[in-house]
This record gives sequence, C-alpha cells and structure tokens, in this order.
Amino acid sequence: MAERLTILVNGQPVDVRAGTVVAAALAQAGVTQFRRSLHGEPRGPLCGMGVCGECRVTINGQPHCRSCLTLCAPGMEVRTDD
Ligand code: FES
Repeated sequence: MAERLTILVNGQPVDVRAGTVVAAALAQAGVTQFRRSLHGEPRGPLCGMGVCGECRVTINGQPHCRSCLTLCAPGMEVRTDD
C-alpha cells in the first residue's frame, strides 16, 4: 500500500499519495483556478514541466511556487488565487 500524506489546500485537508506534485493534488481536490493574471483572468497549469509559470501558487507562505515541480509534504499549506 502506497504511503499517504495530508496537505492543506485553501484550508481544507487533501489526502494524497507520497510523491504527488502539488499541481496534481490541487486537481485531485477539484481546484481549476490556481491564480489570476494581471488582468484578472483565471490561470492553471499549462506545460506541466516548469516552463510556463501558469501553475504558480503560494506554498507555506512563499508566493509564486511552481506547483507542477513541487512535491507535496506532510502538513504543507497551499493557497491558490493569492
Ligand atoms: S505548469 Fe507550466 S510551470 Fe507549472
């Protein structure tokens, strides 16, 4: 059985398999809007490999983290649309 861990997504607990990237955890939680553009348009993952920057979220208070490159860690706090 795969090891599991829990992160917080906008204050709500989300249970994921160890080795899951944050972008996948957000998708699992039903989050489709990760941030907004300067003009207020919704944004979400595009490339999935760290190039486009569209998947940026706030992780443990650190803004602009690329969620497609960041592995979930126990107790991690993720905020979208900040
Ligand atoms: S989806 Fe493009 S940098 Fe993360």
